[in-house]
Amino acid sequence: MSKRAHHIANQIQTKLCSHQPQIAIILGSGLGEFANQISDPTYINYSEIKDFPTSTVAGHQGRFVCGELSGKQVLCLQGRVHLYEGYPASYIADIIKALKLVGITTLIVTNAAGSLKTEITPGSLMLITDHINMSGFTPLIGANDETFGPRFPNMNNVYTKKYQDMAKDIAKKNNITLHQGIYCMLSGPAFETPAEVRMCGILGADANGMSTVPETMTACYCGMNVLGISAITNYCTGVSGGSPTHAETLENAAKCSHNLTTIITQFIGEL
Ligand code: HPA
Repeated sequence: MSKRAHHIANQIQTKLCSHQPQIAIILGSGLGEFANQISDPTYINYSEIKDFPTSTVAGHQGRFVCGELSGKQVLCLQGRVHLYEGYPASYIADIIKALKLVGITTLIVTNAAGSLKTEITPGSLMLITDHINMSGFTPLIGANDETFGPRFPNMNNVYTKKYQDMAKDIAKKNNITLHQGIYCMLSGPAFETPAEVRMCGILGADANGMSTVPETMTACYCGMNVLGISAITNYCTGVSGGSPTHAETLENAAKCSHNLTTIITQFIGEL
């Protein structure tokens, strides 16, 4: 079972040589620059790993960057794949399971997201405290391999409380505005209609995006600790006149990059 995850993990392990990272960071749309912080980097293109799904989206580089950051070995995923690219949720689950197999215990996930609240402005950051899965898919469907986690995992604390507190303290110390809120995942690739945005707001969402939930659900199931931060790249359709485009997303992600890098770099140092 989970043959694909084991196959991917074996190949990553071989290419990592003597590196033994316990921290992985997934970089979302337009946030790939963070990986430049890593010293002594080893690059592994996703295309070098058989069975590894490669991203087809602009703003996603498609490689692992392994090296040292804040005195810790880290494995950075510079670019991710999405459900809307046609990959089944189980493929995304297999990536996280492979990370678990190579020894990752802490997963840091970032994404670009649209804001449903006027006060959560584009260019700012939002700590993800919980999520709503509106994608229509779950990564945990199919036969269960008990070596990774239970058939019926609870999702009480997907985003590790201690990590949230650490991130909030770091943001405060650095004078960075870090909003907090609920991330709602939709499958995309179309941005939402005004009516859908209103629905998400009624359901309790603070920001909408097209990723992250398959990864964090799987990480929680596998017993990893998770920190999630959204780069707020736009107002959702109809919120403060929002009319999102991918170009706007990439442009504002770049504006979030500096503060996001500060928080994650210091967070890793404190782990
Ligand atoms: N909606 C959904 N996903 C997104 C958005 C949005 O407005 N912005 C960036 N990703």
